[in-house]
Amino acid sequence: MTIDTYDHCELGSASWPLGSLYRSALSEREPALIQLREYAEATSLPFMCVDAQSGSILAKTREHLLELLPWTVQSQLSGVTAVRLIELSSGLVFYALPLPSVDGTPTVAVGYVLNGGPGEQPEEIVELVESLGWSSAEIDDWCARQQFCRPEILERLLVTVFESSTHERGLEEEIQRLANEVQRTYEEIGILHELTASLQLSRSPLDLAELCLDRVYELIGAQGNAVVIDTWKQRRHLLLKGHLPIDDAGIQRMIRRFETHDWSRPLVKNQIQGTLLGSDFPGLKNFVLVPITDGIERSGWVMLCNLPGERQFGVVETSLISSLATIMATHHRNLSLYQEHQDLLLQFVSSLISTLDAKDPYTAGHSERVGRIGRQLGQELGLPEEDLDDIYQAGLLHDIGKIGINDSILLKNGDLNANEFTEIKRHPLIGYRILKGLGNIQKLLPGVRNHHENYSGTGYPDGLAGEEIPMLARILAVADAYDAMRSDRPYRKGMPIEKIEQIFKRGAGQQWDPQIIDAYFRANDRIREIGDAGVSVDAD
Ligand SMILES: [Fe+2]
Repeated sequence: MTIDTYDHCELGSASWPLGSLYRSALSEREPALIQLREYAEATSLPFMCVDAQSGSILAKTREHLLELLPWTVQSQLSGVTAVRLIELSSGLVFYALPLPSVDGTPTVAVGYVLNGGPGEQPEEIVELVESLGWSSAEIDDWCARQQFCRPEILERLLVTVFESSTHERGLEEEIQRLANEVQRTYEEIGILHELTASLQLSRSPLDLAELCLDRVYELIGAQGNAVVIDTWKQRRHLLLKGHLPIDDAGIQRMIRRFETHDWSRPLVKNQIQGTLLGSDFPGLKNFVLVPITDGIERSGWVMLCNLPGERQFGVVETSLISSLATIMATHHRNLSLYQEHQDLLLQFVSSLISTLDAKDPYTAGHSERVGRIGRQLGQELGLPEEDLDDIYQAGLLHDIGKIGINDSILLKNGDLNANEFTEIKRHPLIGYRILKGLGNIQKLLPGVRNHHENYSGTGYPDGLAGEEIPMLARILAVADAYDAMRSDRPYRKGMPIEKIEQIFKRGAGQQWDPQIIDAYFRANDRIREIGDAGVSVDAD
């Protein structure tokens, strides 16, 4: 510092450290006080934090700074936006710089120095210290310790500090804004990542919409959040989070009102109250409406409304909502395609089964019953619904390889000779080869290939034993055996239940997995109902 009249200043002395605050009722983290300390540190001048309206002194940076604020000075503190110097005729020079407001009250950083030289005793100071009961010696001592500074040098110093502080604050605000943006972007990416990771086909559109609503509510904080979604079963659902001042019919009314809007962009209305729109939708302050569409078909809408306080919907909010709507639309489309694919697959499987049934009418319905009995066994074993569907479909397909067996063997009345039996034993592998190129039914293939394996390892085609045999095939083996024994054949009648169950008991652990035979005995009444449907058997 080059101020030549600082001979008597108290720069950063041990007793009065710079940057400290005295008599402050405010929090140390109050922005006004942080700025006050910065002014004091940068200028080495004393400062008081003053309420610009009442003139109250809220804090000061030096303990021994006399709390002096003449009315002439106080009256000029309103609206201080830059450095202001107020010279008093007594030789005191007051300076004021703007500070951030405290709880909405404008505050100003104020200080004073002596303009004259050592020995000068401004009348305002003398009056104040006399009222405090100071002696002449104490006044002399205090005056001797004060800073002296010419106003033009003081002004140059304060302007430099103020401008650099303003510039620095601008940079800090920009950094803070960028940091907030990065934080928000990070949170958005987190949400989008979580949602895309949740896009399994097993997740219903409603589950996904619920998840979207929860996340968008956490991140954007709008008071009303809604998703209207049409599921592939053509049912409309309204999901809500928070408080929405309009209902489903209101949302439809809003959509119709803006039917000419270009829906490739979100509809954003930030100023509604006091307008015709506001009159028609009371309680609505602002809103964003985004269609859930994959660009081909629209399956619903997302609506957010009423941001708290003075906030408005901007690019950040609308782009996040649009991204979520696109994710929901894509998921919806994928589910529809998957469902169509599943329907086609079922049609294909049915036509294959019809072909087999047409070839061997005597066993018509066998595959359907094996599928249903297998399903019942799977349910008894506590398997999930998705697995039960697989068991059923594998049951439908298990003998599809018989399509490739010569009719003279397949339809032969009576016992097969060794060669014929070898030929018919080819059907699991033929079925496997027919189906293995079809991507979506790979998981059914073990049931087709291995349903004639024996638990003891003596079956075909792979000679697998025990738990080497896929569970699907072990279940189908029991279902297949039950229906084969129970059904009539050209050369024999179907067996009574008691006989079948004796065979099952003997064969548990030999031909069949004992845990599946156990499951059979727990569910035998229900299996008998399934097995006897459409099967011609003698009364037991
Ligand atoms: Fe078979």
